[in-house]
Amino acid sequence: MRISSPKLNIMYKACMKASRSLIRDFGEIENLQVSSKGPGDFVSSADKRTEKIIIDELLKAHPDYGVLSEEAGRLNEKNKTNKWIIDPIDGTSNFLNGIPQFAISIGYEENNEIKNGLIYDPIKNELFFAEVGSGAFLNNSRIRVSKKKNLKNSLIGTGGPRGNSKFKNKIFSEYLEVSNNVEIPVRKFGSASLDLANVACGRFDAFWQRELSHWDVAAGILIVKEAGGFVDYFDIDNNDSKKLNLIASNSLVHEELRNLITKKNIEKN
Ligand code: IPD
Ligand code: CA
Ligand code: CA
Repeated sequence: MRISSPKLNIMYKACMKASRSLIRDFGEIENLQVSSKGPGDFVSSADKRTEKIIIDELLKAHPDYGVLSEEAGRLNEKNKTNKWIIDPIDGTSNFLNGIPQFAISIGYEENNEIKNGLIYDPIKNELFFAEVGSGAFLNNSRIRVSKKKNLKNSLIGTGGPRGNSKFKNKIFSEYLEVSNNVEIPVRKFGSASLDLANVACGRFDAFWQRELSHWDVAAGILIVKEAGGFVDYFDIDNNDSKKLNLIASNSLVHEELRNLITKKNIEKN
């Protein structure tokens, strides 16, 4: 792996150690699915196990750094300068159902700017990573966003809504609006970090989703940008900075997609 940055090296080691346990746990899912108890509890403990390995390894290198992680929440809150942002399993429902589409996502933020990002798909053995200013990589190769110019021919990903979302109608009408303007059906793969990785390496031309959390996208945003893509936000709720409504694209189809999603006459609730 061509990782020369010290920060990425720390993230890589933590991720690889955690992924060994995660792959073992994924191997158990099939057995648990046929058991009467089901895999629910096991998955939440796999989540916590993976997270603990990652946090322990990252804090071993920098014990005073802050942490924002999906299950553990915030640690070392006094440190306002350096922060690891972690999603131990992004794509939990896939993992729970034995579907091999999930990832470990780790971002490193310094002075409120993401400096390093790493997303690892342990099943495909695909490691996406970037350092600010140094380009984006998939395993040993430099990656670039796609060159597609028209939304009509684009392959676009999205996600949500969760069952309890207050924005269901908006989300469905945005989905309808985009679907009515593309030839290839919109994809919904269930792991936002991998959706962003797919934009970065040109498999997707664009991705949008409401109600994302920082740990879903911290690493992915940097990887898309470093691959030459564009990321911005729509319908920003100033009262809820924890939920991000995000559009990421190859930059060439961005405006067209943004115009559809923010179109005035689509359902608002
Ligand atoms: C979820 C996945 C999913 C997205 C959800 C996220 P989780 O993360 O990224 O693709 O649609 O909004 O919460 O719960 O699997 O870590
Ligand atoms: Ca997630
Ligand atoms: Ca998660």
